[in-house]
Amino acid sequence: MYSHDVLVLGAGLAGMRAALEAARSGANVAMLSKVYPVRSHSNAAQGGINAALTDRGDDWHEHAYDTVKGSDFLGDQDAIEVMCREAGQELINLEHMGVIFNRDDEGRLGTRAFGGQRRARTFFVADITGQAILHVMYEQILKYNVRVYDEWYATTLITDHGRCGGVVAMEMRTGEVHAIRAKATILATGGLGRVFEPSTNALICTGDGMALAYRAGAPLMDMEMVQYHPTTLKGSGVLLSEGARGEGAYLINSRGERFMERYAPNMMELASRDVVSRAEITEINEGNDIDGCVLLDCRHLGRAKIMERLMYIHEVAMDLVGVDITKDPVPIRPGVHYQMGGIKTDVDGRCWDPAGNWKGVEGLFAAGETACVSVHGGNRLGANSLLDTVIFGRRSAEAAMDFAGANGHLEFSEDTWVGGEKASMQALLDNNGGGDLVAKLRLDMATAMDEGLGVYRTEEGMQQALNAVRGMKGRFKDVIVQDKGKAFNTNLIFALELGCMLDCAEAIAVGGIERKESRGAHSRLDYAARDDENWLKHILLYQGPGDQITKEYVPIVITQWQPEERKY
Ligand code: FUM
Repeated sequence: MYSHDVLVLGAGLAGMRAALEAARSGANVAMLSKVYPVRSHSNAAQGGINAALTDRGDDWHEHAYDTVKGSDFLGDQDAIEVMCREAGQELINLEHMGVIFNRDDEGRLGTRAFGGQRRARTFFVADITGQAILHVMYEQILKYNVRVYDEWYATTLITDHGRCGGVVAMEMRTGEVHAIRAKATILATGGLGRVFEPSTNALICTGDGMALAYRAGAPLMDMEMVQYHPTTLKGSGVLLSEGARGEGAYLINSRGERFMERYAPNMMELASRDVVSRAEITEINEGNDIDGCVLLDCRHLGRAKIMERLMYIHEVAMDLVGVDITKDPVPIRPGVHYQMGGIKTDVDGRCWDPAGNWKGVEGLFAAGETACVSVHGGNRLGANSLLDTVIFGRRSAEAAMDFAGANGHLEFSEDTWVGGEKASMQALLDNNGGGDLVAKLRLDMATAMDEGLGVYRTEEGMQQALNAVRGMKGRFKDVIVQDKGKAFNTNLIFALELGCMLDCAEAIAVGGIERKESRGAHSRLDYAARDDENWLKHILLYQGPGDQITKEYVPIVITQWQPEERKY
């Protein structure tokens, strides 16, 4: 059996940063990913990474306050303090690893403005920051000879009495199913954007890690908090970076008005994402749209700046909608971008509470978008996502190594776990009757979620989405996998991913119905106000038995910033 001290699932930035930390300390570490590492979705992060550097006159407390306010006071302030305090050093670490950040006129690391922040503290590589960091991080993974299971798909966490001992995974090239034993397992499997359509997320963002942890007994937290990014391209939903607005681009409606004046007079286009997305939808609903969109206007930035700093979105707009952003405004609208909720962890990535205030899975850790630490609360600030991945990737590896040092391997029967997995895959492959094709069910799910859990929500709409998703979970049992082969059976992988997405979709809708207030990205027409008296708390969801979902609540951690009215 394959065996490691620390096994990291996912090879985006959180996963690579975790694996690197463990490898540097000499642990027997491996990383498993369903795609080749540099194809991970961190590649798609565009605008930058936040850090408050003191030699620029910035202060991590200010970054933390902006983050707390951005989260609409749902973020845990102890975790936010950790992230913002450690950001500067981690940024310098990235620079020392070889990330070639843009420079300012004096040759120092340059910054650009980003939404919801009173100061420009976003460090960037043009509009390909995630890609630049991901490739440098992968060089480090190669340098430290980390064992990589690339193009392997993890299907189940191996657990016994609330302790994780590794995973069952399929090697996609052969279709063989294996158990991989690990003293500590770190989930860094990214988000779930493809529960909705369209989304800025890659097709691989299917909530796999969240579903695996949830099925194994770990709670999902704040799943109702789904971020809509204000500038996604008409039709495809591809991201056009907030970096454009950071560089000074405007949002205009069909009348040519900079409508953000009416919604956020101080921060305008750089208000937080939930605020800007609501403003756009309001404009669209009031008829100030152009074919369901508003416009992002970059023309006044000038060709030279656009080609230096926004060349990627220039290319995307040209290729996908035929608009040259140096000459014309480009049609955009809000699109699903990020899941603020996820697997509940502490500030060291643990998916269980040693103090026993909430239940979870011992030996299991999570970092990055799949986790909910919670540093983003009800609304994430742009460029805090890359930061989250590297800070909590590193910290979860440190804690995982401690755990692996203090604990042996979990004993389990490889035959039982592998045999059980093969049997359930075979049951899917044996479906030949009148079931749905994977693509049909996937689109039905996304349509139901778009309709019920959009920028604005109501009880009725969310309940309809939940009923529909529950119906689809029933239909999923009969889903048809047409490819019956073993080698690279992506049809089977898509079916397994769909199963994960349905679990996540259900949790999003249940969380949304439960939170009877409007906060951050969760904006309800039937409960339009934030309700600090009753809802300064996180919602935890536990799966099972059967279709049951158990709800629990944990209070928000407040250290220094009391909730106040949120204005931009
Ligand atoms: O707009 C952007 O560049 C996205 C950044 C982020 O989500 O952090």
